[in-house]
Amino acid sequence: MDKQHLTDTNKNWCILPMQLMHLHSVTSIEQLVSPGPWRLSQFRDSLKDHNGSVLVVGEYVRGFTIYTVGVEHADLLNIGLEPSFQGQGFGRLLLKSMIWQMPAEIKKIMLEVRVTNWKAIQFYKAMGFKKIDLRKDYYLNSKEQTSESALVMLRLLP
Ligand SMILES: CC(C)(COP(=O)(O)OP(=O)(O)OC[C@H]1O[C@@H](n2cnc3c(N)ncnc32)[C@H](O)[C@@H]1OP(=O)(O)O)[C@@H](O)C(=O)NCCC(=O)NCCS
Repeated sequence: MDKQHLTDTNKNWCILPMQLMHLHSVTSIEQLVSPGPWRLSQFRDSLKDHNGSVLVVGEYVRGFTIYTVGVEHADLLNIGLEPSFQGQGFGRLLLKSMIWQMPAEIKKIMLEVRVTNWKAIQFYKAMGFKKIDLRKDYYLNSKEQTSESALVMLRLLP
């Protein structure tokens, strides 16, 4: 297996670098799973400066990650799986694939998550992230026009 194309042909899935052709599917998944969904233009702009991966199952994009790699740490900016593909280990695979691609000098990964996103917080805890801070009113939930605080979480890498 190479680092850019994590794949399991037996189970019919692979993780590929995100490209422009994936953005309509990625935006559709984001619309289904986020209360403040990124627009297609945000994903497109992200691809200029950040890294993205998609999970393809069969012929279709079913999940994605967007992350950025700085000098000392990386930030997981977004991750999402189509609802019917959640809870099957694909989130773990996307995160593993991201960590696998990190340069050796990156020793920590940080992220923000909505305080009410219990499922994602449980996921991140299971993936070795710890809560380190709270950012008040960090998110705008555009669907309901409300704001929400973010937990900041950190995972150290060996
Ligand atoms: C959060 C998300 C990416 C997790 O991906 P996933 O594929 O559902 O998670 P996995 O099946 O890989 O789960 C890995 C581990 O996380 C934990 N976990 C995942 N979902 C959980 C849940 N609903 N309740 C409790 N623990 C959970 C479990 O420990 C699980 O390991 P196990 O199955 O061996 O018990 C996915 O649910 C998702 O897309 N959610 C909507 C979008 C979102 O909230 N993104 C985060 C924005 S910050």
